[in-house]
Amino acid sequence: MERIIHPEAIKRANESVEAALQEAAHDPHRLAYHASPPVYWMNDPNGLIHYKGEYHLFYQHNPYSEQWGDIHWAHMKSKDLVHWEQLPIALAPSEEYDIDGCFSGSAVEHEGKMYVFYTSNLYTTPAGLPDDLLQQQCAAVSADGIHFKKLSENPVIKAPPEPIGQTNHFRDPKVWKHQDNWYMVLGAKKYDRGKVLVYKSADLIHWEFLNVVTESDGSMGYMHECPDLFSVGGKDVLLLSPEGAGTKEDPRLSGYYIGEFDYETGHYRHEAFRRLDYGFDFYAPQTMQGAGGRRILFGWMPMDGKALNKKWAGAMTIPREVKYSGGNRLQIEPVEEMKRLRGLHHAVGEYRVTAGQVQPIPGISGECVEMIVTYDLQTTDAIEFGLQVRCSEDGREKTVIKYDRETAQVIFDRNDSGAGDKGVRGCTIEDGQNRMLRLHIFLDRSALELFINQGDYVMSGFIFPEETSQGIRFFANGGTALIHSIDFWQLAL
Ligand code: FRU
Repeated sequence: MERIIHPEAIKRANESVEAALQEAAHDPHRLAYHASPPVYWMNDPNGLIHYKGEYHLFYQHNPYSEQWGDIHWAHMKSKDLVHWEQLPIALAPSEEYDIDGCFSGSAVEHEGKMYVFYTSNLYTTPAGLPDDLLQQQCAAVSADGIHFKKLSENPVIKAPPEPIGQTNHFRDPKVWKHQDNWYMVLGAKKYDRGKVLVYKSADLIHWEFLNVVTESDGSMGYMHECPDLFSVGGKDVLLLSPEGAGTKEDPRLSGYYIGEFDYETGHYRHEAFRRLDYGFDFYAPQTMQGAGGRRILFGWMPMDGKALNKKWAGAMTIPREVKYSGGNRLQIEPVEEMKRLRGLHHAVGEYRVTAGQVQPIPGISGECVEMIVTYDLQTTDAIEFGLQVRCSEDGREKTVIKYDRETAQVIFDRNDSGAGDKGVRGCTIEDGQNRMLRLHIFLDRSALELFINQGDYVMSGFIFPEETSQGIRFFANGGTALIHSIDFWQLAL
């Protein structure tokens, strides 16, 4: 490959995006309030950081196509986590060591500057993927938070310790500071077992391998992608996306461990793995510390732009606050700032849905809405009940969110949602003795996110209905459903 200098590679990428903007602009499925690429491909959130009073969100981006490839770091920022401003591309492949991609990583602030850490990707044969790769860890620095200069010391980590990891799958550095030292977790593998490694540094340049944080016993996949280790509510939480641990129907799995991390030894003791999202489209989440010390998470909502005949692909979830309040479970809820989008409010008190009814409620419909529906499970005797959103007039097109009393599952059914992938996902509510069932829903044209109870479970997925399908209907089967309250907002965009 011919060597080009970084600013030139960035310029070329920005020009490509600029020239194609109109191609994605008029799509009714483009999202109104989610962070999403103006055109072309998006994957993982990278470099999340609250820096000089603003939130920065970088993401894996192909500035030349709606499909994965030629991976750059694109960049947005926001003052409130809700309104995003697109910035110039931050990192482009340009050096001998990263010419086949600037893969996922993270950002930290040091002496007023922003440092980003990423994985340089090189194909070691013309075929490249999936295994003929050389992956190393690199850094770039910025004084203005917009223009990045790759360090002359790159790659700062050239290879994992030979008995522990392989150089072809060694990626996704997440860096943070603890007391006087910097720490980095990295995804790795050896002999088809996924691992997370931890490194330590005093200066962000020289890194010393500390330990293996966790390792797949075979059941947790062959490669651990996008690890993130942080403390919340007195616990040390490790996020990871274990490649190969999903199923054929549900291949992308992301989740977490709750435990205690020993900063001296790099040893991690933890509870059982839990999923972060029970929907269809969620992967490679990353967190940052936000204003007020909150732990804020974004996940990637994958989308096949090509199959959908679109010039854009993918989105971030809405920002979610991660909390811990006991037991082996995190609470995941929309950040407070999401309330800023609330426009016209419609409140309904007690409302009864009788068996066989499929009932609209005047004032409740739309494609960019937020809704909190609380059911009283003690007075509800329906076998299943819930709501249909994005319904067509004739009721044929619809997306169903329902509760199945027998299995204690909340179900997200997109078999009749319109274009795109179909399927049904279920999420078992473990505390079935709950008196109330709270469904907190965000719709944004083609994105649906559902938060259940007090952030105990989340389900996310894309749907691609007709633009005119904007109905919302409430239904019950085999008995009556007693809605305790509905709060509904049109979102002001
Ligand atoms: C996760 C991932 C990362 C990698 C990046 C490449 O989706 O495979 O492990 O760094 O995407 O785009």
